[in-house]
Amino acid sequence: MCGIVGYCGSKPASDILLEGLRRLEYRGYDSAGICVGTESGFRIIKRKGKIKDLKSIVPDKPFGVNGIGHTRWATHGGVTDENAHPHTDCSGKISIVHNGIIENYMQIKERLLAKGHIFKSETDTEVIAHLIEDLYAGDITLAVREAVNHIKGTYGIVVMHNDHKGTLVGARNGSPLILGVGENEMFIASDVNAMISYTKQVVYLEDGEIITITPDGYRISDLYDKKINKAVNEVDWEFESFEKGNFDHFMLKEIFEQKESVARGMLGRLNLDHATGHLGGLNMTSRELLSIERVIIVAAGTSYHAGLVAAYLIESVARIPAGAELASELRYRNPIIEKNALYFVVSQSGETADTLYAMRELKRKGAKVLGICNVVGSTIARETDGGVYIHSGPEIAVASTKAFTSQLTALYIFTLLIARMRNMSFEAGSDFVRQMQALPSIIDKALLKADEIKKLADKYSVAKDFLFLGRGINYPVALEGALKLKEISYIHAEGFSAAEIKHGPIALINEETPSLFLVPDDRLREKIISNMKEVKARRGKVIAITVEGDSEVAQIADDIITVPHVEEYMYPFVMIIPLQLFAYYTALKLGRDVDQPRNLAKSVTVE
Ligand code: AGP
Repeated sequence: MCGIVGYCGSKPASDILLEGLRRLEYRGYDSAGICVGTESGFRIIKRKGKIKDLKSIVPDKPFGVNGIGHTRWATHGGVTDENAHPHTDCSGKISIVHNGIIENYMQIKERLLAKGHIFKSETDTEVIAHLIEDLYAGDITLAVREAVNHIKGTYGIVVMHNDHKGTLVGARNGSPLILGVGENEMFIASDVNAMISYTKQVVYLEDGEIITITPDGYRISDLYDKKINKAVNEVDWEFESFEKGNFDHFMLKEIFEQKESVARGMLGRLNLDHATGHLGGLNMTSRELLSIERVIIVAAGTSYHAGLVAAYLIESVARIPAGAELASELRYRNPIIEKNALYFVVSQSGETADTLYAMRELKRKGAKVLGICNVVGSTIARETDGGVYIHSGPEIAVASTKAFTSQLTALYIFTLLIARMRNMSFEAGSDFVRQMQALPSIIDKALLKADEIKKLADKYSVAKDFLFLGRGINYPVALEGALKLKEISYIHAEGFSAAEIKHGPIALINEETPSLFLVPDDRLREKIISNMKEVKARRGKVIAITVEGDSEVAQIADDIITVPHVEEYMYPFVMIIPLQLFAYYTALKLGRDVDQPRNLAKSVTVE
C-alpha cells in the first residue's frame, strides 16, 4: 500500500530517493520522508503531504550516497509528520521504512516499553526499529533476521544502521520488494517504477528472504541465514511509458491507450486459420483444458468486474459453469474445491493482498490456479501454476481503465480456446476472432466522443447520487462505471442490474439522482427500454449509452452517448469507454486529484 525505495552507490542519494518516491507515489500519498546517510550521521526529512511537499523542504543541493525513502498510505496512526516514515530507534542509529501491517506490534511495543524504549509515533513500523535495536549486537543483518522472526504480519522493510555506512538490509513477507542491480550501485524498491530510469536488471525477492546490499554487491539469504542464489531478470517496460506524455493525467492517457493495449493483448494469441485462441503460458495440455468442468474467477475491484463479464461469456459461449468471486470473501469462506474446476486469479498489480491470500488458500486446498496479471514478475504471477500477462503496459493512475479491457481480452481469448474444444464451430470461431480483431478500431471510434462526454459530465457533475444500470453481460460493466465515478469524483454511485431496481433501489429515483443506462442493440434491449420508462415515470433523469441511430432510445432518454454497433458479447469493450471518460471529466469538473484520489492507492497490499 505504501511505496518504499532504497539506494546505495556513489550518486547523490537524496535526488534518487525523491525521484523514486515520485514514481511510487500512486502506491500511497498521504505523507512521505527520506533518511540519507551523511558523514555526520542520518539526515531524516519527513512530513505529511505529497512528494512535492516533501521536496519543498529537502535542500536543493543533492547529498548523501545512500538512503531510504517512503511514501505512505496510513494504516496505523493518523496522517501526521511524526507518523510519516522513516522511523528510528531510541539511539537514532537505526532507521527503517516499511510497507505492510505488523499484527502483533502492540505486544512487542509493551515489552519494549517495559524495557524503557521511548516511542515517537503511533505506528506499527516504529516498533520494528526498536526491536532491531533491542536485538542488535554489531551485525545489522543478524538483528534484522532475528527481529522479523518475532513479528507477525506483512512487511517489505529496508533498514539502515549508522555504524554500517553504505549498507542497506531488506526483508519481505507479503509485500513486494525488488532489487535493482546497477554499475557499482544498488537500488531496492516496492516496484520497478522507482529504478527503471537507472537499471532494468532486477531480482524479485520472495517471502521469507533477507537481503544485505552494498554498492558493489548483495547477499540474499533465508530466515536461517542459508544463502540463496537468484536469477537477475530484465524489465521489458520502457522508461517513457511511466510518463504522462501530452496528457494532463495518467488516467486520460491510459483511457486513450486502449486501442493499442487491447491490440497488444491479442498479439500472437488469435489464430484465424484454426479459428481459435492461443495462450502459451497456461501450462495446460488440450486434454487438461477439455477436462475443465467449472471456471471460477477470483479478484478484487475492477478486476472482479472483468471476472464477472468473463464468467457470463464462458457460460454463454463455452457452455461451462462459471462464476466470479470476491477474493476477500472467498479466502475466509472455506470454499469447496471441485476436482476439475479451474481458478483464475485476476490482478493488474499482481500484489493485491486479498487476491494473493485467496490464491494461496486455493493452492493449499489443491486447486488449479492460473493468474491473469499485468505487472511482470509480480508475486501472483510468480506463485500461480501458469497464466497470462495482459501486456497493458504500466498503469499508473489509481483508477484502473486499460487493465480492464486488457483483462477482458485475455479472458475472451481463453473462452474462445476452450469453446472451440467443445461446442463452438469453426465458422463461429472465425467470426469471434474477426469480432475481436475489429475491437481496437471500434474502441478508437468510441474515444472520438470524448468532447461530447465532457459536456455531459459537466452538466451532471452537480449530482450527489448516481445509478448505473445494465443487463446481462453489461451488468458488470454498469458496476464498473459506478466504481470509476465513485473512486475519482467521490459522488455516491451504485451499479445495478436494470431489472433489479424495481425490487427496491427505484425508491432512490428522483429528479436529482440521474440514472445511466447501458442500452446495446441486443436480446435485452426491449427489457432495458421498459426499465428506462419505469425511471422516467418517476421523473428520474435518464442518460443512455446506446448504439448510433437508435432513435427510440434517444426519444426516451434526457441525454444519450452513442457507441459503434458490435456483436452482443463485444459490448463490454465498447460500453466501458464512455463510462471511463464520464468519470474522468466529472472528477476534472469537480477539481479532484484524478490520478491520486483521496483514501486510495494503486496496489492494495494490506488486507
Ligand atoms: C480500480 O480502479 C481500483 N484501483 C481497485 O478497485 C483495483 O481494481 C483493485 O484494488 C484490484 O487491483 P488489482 O487488479 O491490482 O488486483
